[in-house]
Amino acid sequence: MPHCRRATSDVVACTASLRLPSRAIARKNLAAAPKHRGRCYQNAMRLELRVFTKDDHAAALQLWEASEGVGLSDADSFENIARFLERNPGLSFVATEGELVVATILCGHDGRRGLIHHLVVSPTHRRKGIGRQLVERALAALNDAQIQKCHLLVFRENREGIAFWQGIGGEERVLLTLFSFPTGDANPTC
Ligand SMILES: CC(C)(COP(=O)(O)OP(=O)(O)OC[C@H]1O[C@@H](n2cnc3c(N)ncnc32)[C@H](O)[C@@H]1OP(=O)(O)O)[C@@H](O)C(=O)NCCC(=O)NCCS
Repeated sequence: MPHCRRATSDVVACTASLRLPSRAIARKNLAAAPKHRGRCYQNAMRLELRVFTKDDHAAALQLWEASEGVGLSDADSFENIARFLERNPGLSFVATEGELVVATILCGHDGRRGLIHHLVVSPTHRRKGIGRQLVERALAALNDAQIQKCHLLVFRENREGIAFWQGIGGEERVLLTLFSFPTGDANPTC
């Protein structure tokens, strides 16, 4: 059974875009807000940013299930995430502290535009620049793949999520509305 923590009527998203005219400009946009402890924090906490592999799925799912602001569905099963990672190599990342996965970002592209999913930072690790760093890594990887713009969806009620994307320079696409269609009989909710 497809599952989602939101009623269908709530699955209306704000859309935001992050443009990638060049890595330098993308970095400049992301750097618009005050700079973070960044690498110093990574060293102090032994935090590591690395590519998301299918072996991270169980820990990531645990993080996503415990987090507000995330819509989960059958698309997040082990098989489907493994397929997503295989189709989009080197674009998704985790932040780890020792063995612990403390943050994730899933990122892919369709050959034209990028799409970010499941940017989640553990509540104990928020407001330390980890979310920003994961986005920077994903955007840089997209730019390396010649993808010049990246979109993401945020639940309208997710005020903190929206504040984050605004805080790092995302463009809110107020002229766009999201429509979705099931492709068969499964009718997934997210
Ligand atoms: C959104 C989220 C990923 C942010 O991660 P984070 O590591 O705490 O974010 P950062 O520390 O990199 O924040 C970068 C900037 O974003 C803005 N920001 C981040 N969280 C914010 C909040 N709760 N309120 C207001 N602004 C915020 C700030 O401008 C911040 O810079 P500052 O700390 O120097 O002021 C995290 O809160 C989270 O996991 N939320 C739950 C899941 C979610 O909603 N994901 C997004 C769905 S698309």
